[in-house]
Amino acid sequence: YPSAPPNSLVSFLRVDTTTLQNQIDELSTFSDTPAPSVTRILYTEKDVLARRYIKNLMGLSGLSVREDAVGNIFGRWDGYESDLVPVATGSHIDAIPYSGKYDGVVGVLGAIEAINVLKRSGFKPKRSLEVVLFTSEEPTRFGISCLGSRLLAGSEALAEALKTTVDGQNISFLEAARSAGYAKEHDDISSVFLKEGSYSAFVELHIEQGPILEAEGLSIGIVTAIAAPASLKVDFEGNGGHAGAVLMPNRNDAGLAAAELALAVEKHVLGSGSIDTVGTVGILELHPGAINSIPSKSHVEIDTRDIDEKRRNDVIEKIHQSATKIASKRGVRLSEFKIVNQDPPALSDNSVIEAMEAASKELNLTHKLMISRAYHDSLFMARVSPMGMLFIPCYKGYSHKPEEYASSHDMGNGVKVLAMTLAKLSLN
Ligand code: GLV
Ligand code: MN
Ligand code: MN
Ligand code: MN
Repeated sequence: YPSAPPNSLVSFLRVDTTTLQNQIDELSTFSDTPAPSVTRILYTEKDVLARRYIKNLMGLSGLSVREDAVGNIFGRWDGYESDLVPVATGSHIDAIPYSGKYDGVVGVLGAIEAINVLKRSGFKPKRSLEVVLFTSEEPTRFGISCLGSRLLAGSEALAEALKTTVDGQNISFLEAARSAGYAKEHDDISSVFLKEGSYSAFVELHIEQGPILEAEGLSIGIVTAIAAPASLKVDFEGNGGHAGAVLMPNRNDAGLAAAELALAVEKHVLGSGSIDTVGTVGILELHPGAINSIPSKSHVEIDTRDIDEKRRNDVIEKIHQSATKIASKRGVRLSEFKIVNQDPPALSDNSVIEAMEAASKELNLTHKLMISRAYHDSLFMARVSPMGMLFIPCYKGYSHKPEEYASSHDMGNGVKVLAMTLAKLSLN
């Protein structure tokens, strides 16, 4: 091939949407909860089986497969100038409790299919193309989001923290990783860090997880920026006691402190004055959790995000002030206020945006530029590579619930644009 993909490549790109849909359905059966929900938690038996399924497909597509110390999986198609820096694409296959089949999965199975599409078309990449499966984009098990990509981007703080991180069952990260065949005795977590300049570009295909593309009848979203996510863990401690015998004036109810903080989160988020500020209390636990016992401990986990980092940080500060005030007013102890992560937003790179736009146009697919309100491994890949993301429509914007759905047709479009984008970036 000459230095740009021939325009005729367009007419040779054929996506096998039937097989892709079958693979999505099959992968969804590796779940700890019944269909239509999917629950696939890091390093569990179902996660290990799902990983095996993906590695097998990578092998069938002729990719050479490599795994790092935390289980990021890389499948490489060697380019004809294999000493050039490769182009990468990929996403995650872990699924939060009671979620759906498509979040992340479309960007992994779709990436493997994009490779198949290019192979069938006769295309030969100049730069190598790599499909990446990222470990634990979801924070479910160890509380930390984008675990694999955060490490790839070189987070020393995370590599250090993982030495002592445990899950809700008190199983250590390292023990869990070992049970899945990773983090072997001689492995060092920092071996996962990518060297600067490991990829010339990174592209992630993902369902939109919002309603815009479907509502506007568009095929492709081209992501220009990813909103800044943060998460907090808060603990209150009171004296507890008998639900009948302790009179109301004598209580210091840790549960009510948590409830009040949850409402304060909503108040501060709405008070930012921007529709782009969001906040959620998705975890609220009471101890001992008995109907006739005043909660002596409560645990709250808060997710807050914004396109504007400073505005998001102001909300965090206000949540902290509220937590302190509520504790003193209710006579409970604020025993923990921990900012688990407080990440900046990420911008897509113009070179990748241009390639995605050109691919959409050549394929005659309608598209729009948009932001991602959800976070993705791309947020961290942007730190070590020029990054871009492709969105496809999903039913009513549903995500993180069993009703999540994207049509085979829309997935096929996404895979085609991904294939064409990879072809372009590979020849760059
Ligand atoms: C990703 O799953 C997110 O919560 O944005
Ligand atoms: Mn998700
Ligand atoms: Mn996702
Ligand atoms: Mn805690």
